[in-house]
Amino acid sequence: MEIAPGAHHFRRALTIDEQRALADRCRALMDGPVPAYVPIVRGGGTMHVRMLCLGRHWNAQTYQYESTRTDYDGLPAPPLPPEFQALARDIAGRAGMSLDPDLCILNFYEADGRMGLHQDKDEGPVSIAAGIPVVSVSVGDTARFLFGGLKRRDPVEAMSLCSGDAFVFGGPARLRYHGVSRITPHTAPPELGFSGRFNVTFRQSDEACRALS
Ligand code: SIN
Ligand code: MN
Repeated sequence: MEIAPGAHHFRRALTIDEQRALADRCRALMDGPVPAYVPIVRGGGTMHVRMLCLGRHWNAQTYQYESTRTDYDGLPAPPLPPEFQALARDIAGRAGMSLDPDLCILNFYEADGRMGLHQDKDEGPVSIAAGIPVVSVSVGDTARFLFGGLKRRDPVEAMSLCSGDAFVFGGPARLRYHGVSRITPHTAPPELGFSGRFNVTFRQSDEACRALS
């Protein structure tokens, strides 16, 4: 469903088996040799998610991408698995857009997890001007997702992102403000056997745009 020009919400884009596989993979990565961590942002605030970046690392102090986690432990960002890339390409295609992602931000929200309104604007001027989409996939508990306009004060629409949902924002929607105001605990499909919420957002940085051109 296109909810605004360039913004698409796909309910249950993933089957329950695909959701389980994605959650298992995310958990293994987050508890792996380069573990997820709770970033402290530039202003000193602590984020309300556990984060792991794949492909390239988003530095929470400089708001730039880098290959090693210089704001945290100096470890290299783990590679973006090819099946993650394929999933992102497929979902972008369903929205009629193309994406060749070189990075993914994996977030885990506990019952009290949330994320303030922000724009995704660090991927680089070329990627953003081209309207190359961000593809977001969620598994686990339902989130109250806020989708606003191009200015912070623009009105926001609240919608539920449920387990298996995908959300794509590109083209004229690429820089729209968005955030997660809350998670509703214990709303994950019982078959998944966990609580909390994984969200993965796939992006294409200017590095990848240059490599392709
Ligand atoms: C994000 O904006 O980076 C995450 C959005 C979400 O968790 O749905
Ligand atoms: Mn975002």
